[in-house]
Amino acid sequence: MDKYVLAFAPIEPITMNPIIRELMAINGARLVYRPKILPQHLLKAPNWQYWAKIKKISQVRTPSGESIYDGIQIIARPGDPIKKAVKYIDNYASKFGIQYIDLNFCCPGYKVLPKRRGGDLLKDPDSVIQVISEAIKFTNLPISIKIRKGFLNSDTPQNLCYRLSKEFGDNLAWIAINRAPVKMDDVDFSLIKKDFKPFQEAIAGVEGKIPIVANGSIETYQDIYAVKENVKVNGFMIGRAALGNPSIFHAILDSNPIEKSEGDGDNIKINLKFEELFKIITKYQYGPSGRFCSMGEIKKILFYYIKHSYESQKKQLPAGYGFSKWNNQRFDSKSLVKALFKVFPTISEETWKKWIYPFFTK
Ligand SMILES: Cc1cc2nc3c(=O)[nH]c(=O)nc-3n(C[C@H](O)[C@H](O)[C@H](O)COP(=O)(O)O)c2cc1C
Repeated sequence: MDKYVLAFAPIEPITMNPIIRELMAINGARLVYRPKILPQHLLKAPNWQYWAKIKKISQVRTPSGESIYDGIQIIARPGDPIKKAVKYIDNYASKFGIQYIDLNFCCPGYKVLPKRRGGDLLKDPDSVIQVISEAIKFTNLPISIKIRKGFLNSDTPQNLCYRLSKEFGDNLAWIAINRAPVKMDDVDFSLIKKDFKPFQEAIAGVEGKIPIVANGSIETYQDIYAVKENVKVNGFMIGRAALGNPSIFHAILDSNPIEKSEGDGDNIKINLKFEELFKIITKYQYGPSGRFCSMGEIKKILFYYIKHSYESQKKQLPAGYGFSKWNNQRFDSKSLVKALFKVFPTISEETWKKWIYPFFTK
């Protein structure tokens, strides 16, 4: 068992993409998520993407041989049909490869908050407790939650975590906590990266009864090292940084990552294993997930690598390689190879051809 539980953060709509889910898992992310859904939507559209169309990941293993936990995320408030939804999930869990139910108390979406869901519930801890109580009562699956430090930047998660440990103890599988608040208007993200207080307060609150998974702007060796040095979290959840560089999960398990940062500054060594990526894409090419292997989808995945690679070297993206230009530009296999050789010149054109041509050259 690895010292830290590693999670790939839910990022909609990427959370649906089987290539990315598997890529994160084989790099060490033991917890992966499916897209969030309201209980009432789940009950209305039970055969939609959340079920049959999401590729089971139960056969995949982390580098240390552990099986993957694949969860579904519910975004609910008191009064929603939580009981019916979790019972429904229970019935189909093994068929569709679902191992846990996560409850979202963190979403800051401008359409979500006025409906009193997601992060808005952090304003009213009673409503958080109510939603969890109902879910726990009617499922045999583990229940986890995802929160933020609070609704406002001045809030602390300590009292909520204390109440959660008193109410649920180890019936709550883990709490993933994003150290940013729900209301981010006045937030300076350079300070958030150095802020361990939300993690410390959550740990103090749960008194060792519920595992705490740290999330939010963890991108570099320095960030990982700083969290490890300052707080005793049980796990790390990485979102955006893993998209451009899935090897960040290996970096977390390194016993002394700071040594690794010497020479290449603050950044995790760019270890872009394209071979690994294309192997997974090949696997899904002809099955029901084939739509994730289109030129457009592969371009999207490669964009994360391009962005990460340039930003982490503090270099500007080449002209014409911004997100919207890259995604709107039409490529054929030849021009895509040329473009990739331009952005990753350390990989030969021949190698790019070897990876790209089999997909798009008839
Ligand atoms: C585009 C986008 C979509 C997201 N969707 C979800 C979601 O559906 N559910 C959720 O709990 N968090 C969602 N998040 C938040 C992430 O899970 C994570 O908490 C956040 O990105 C901070 O982690 P990071 O700095 O490692 O990316 C989303 C974040 C982004 C950027």
